[in-house]
Amino acid sequence: MADFLTLILAAGKGTRMKSDVNKVLHETAGKSMVQRVLDQVQEVDSAAETVCIVGYQKKQVKQHLGDKDIKFVTQKEQLGTGHAVGQAAGFIARHQGPVLVLCADTPLLRADTIEKLTACQQQEDTGAAVLTAKLDDPSGYGRIVRNKKGHIKCIVEDQDASKEQKKIKEVNAGVYCFSGPLLFEALNKIDSNNEQQEYYLTDTVSYINNQSGKVIPVEVHDSAEIIGVNDRRDLARANKLLYQRTAQKHMVSGVTIIDPDNTYIEPEVKIGRDCVIHPFTFLQGDTEIGPHTAVGPYSRVFASSIGKNVQIKASCNIKESIVHNECTIGPFANLRPGTELKAGVKVGDFVELKKSQIGRGTKVPHLSYVGDAEVGEGTNIGAGTIFANYDGQKKHKTRVGDDVFIGSNTTLVAPITVGDRGQTGAGAVVTHDVDPETTVIGVPARVYSKNSKKKNKQDQD
Ligand code: UD1
Ligand code: CA
Repeated sequence: MADFLTLILAAGKGTRMKSDVNKVLHETAGKSMVQRVLDQVQEVDSAAETVCIVGYQKKQVKQHLGDKDIKFVTQKEQLGTGHAVGQAAGFIARHQGPVLVLCADTPLLRADTIEKLTACQQQEDTGAAVLTAKLDDPSGYGRIVRNKKGHIKCIVEDQDASKEQKKIKEVNAGVYCFSGPLLFEALNKIDSNNEQQEYYLTDTVSYINNQSGKVIPVEVHDSAEIIGVNDRRDLARANKLLYQRTAQKHMVSGVTIIDPDNTYIEPEVKIGRDCVIHPFTFLQGDTEIGPHTAVGPYSRVFASSIGKNVQIKASCNIKESIVHNECTIGPFANLRPGTELKAGVKVGDFVELKKSQIGRGTKVPHLSYVGDAEVGEGTNIGAGTIFANYDGQKKHKTRVGDDVFIGSNTTLVAPITVGDRGQTGAGAVVTHDVDPETTVIGVPARVYSKNSKKKNKQDQD
């Protein structure tokens, strides 16, 4: 199959979003819409060069997609989708082969649908193949008008459609595969004599139909795939559908999701079998979760690697961290970026960890702050322990060895080291290193006054 040139339209302002941000930068299930479309294109083998048409907030869009292997073309004025494609005429002329055009506001589109569309255009050797779907409520979309042979005669925009045409349920997805030379020709023929006074890309279809005699519709099975996000209601719907689709995929592969309608798993997340995901849990970014692990309810895991047989209890927040097998975390634990829990660690309630490694089998069971620390194996960090890592100007490291016993409410003032099997008494404020096998105690409570029993008795009388 010939390689195709891809054009992604992302120059429009997205007025209906009522936003200060370009529509295509809005996120669905944790990723911008334009990025989702690009990801799907890049999954298709026969994708050659990709060109993104930018205009409104072009700096932000370019920056956002910056390091990806794509080119950019500017559409200075947003005069319509046909005009936008026209800005890439040079690329179309040079490429000669098939041209795939997509709108950056269709985040649910799948790579295999793109593959099917481009293959269809090639096999049938048509002027164009257009992705379509039948919708119960087609309003807002361009309607597909077919001829007697079942091919596409033209596409009529919602605003320009007659009463009869508005009844057509088959709509234009905004995804096309054109014969390059015919598209190039057609772009010179369109005008802006329509309701929106824009150069419609859809108008190239009737020209190509006349020239080649054949523009074929390729209908998607799952009509949700073609949702075009124009306003915030569409955005919410696209989000919901993406989360539903992802939950279905995991359930089919052996993950228990207690309430899929109230669980938010982003498409990039990987989950092992026999995991249990409780309601109101968010699994986000490049998160990977090993088998037989339970998460939630009300927990969030972002860009983290979680091992097998891990228990992440209610209301935990885990970000950019590594959790090895057999750990238990929470409820109400906060693992901030750079945290690593080795196998069998227990982190209990109201514990915050940041940029810290905690050794095998160590316990931090209650109410502690552990920042910039290296803690060894088999150590116990008592309730209320604070790793005082900040002197007001700089952060400092704390090292705690193996089999250490840190008493409740200890403050370890960094930089500091507590050697293997060292101990601290409850309430100790430790400002110097503690040697291995050594116990230090803080300021013990002193007798302040003696309460006379006699006096008390008299008082009572
Ligand atoms: C478009 C189609 C419609 C189809 C629908 C599918 C046209 C004329 N209409 O309508 O038939 O059913 O998509 O979702 O093509 N853009 C530019 N430059 C512009 C205008 C738009 O780059 O001058 C970009 C936008 O950023 C957006 C995409 O093109 O990503 C589609 O534009 P939009 O205004 O959303 O088109 P629709 O009205 O939805
Ligand atoms: Ca749209």
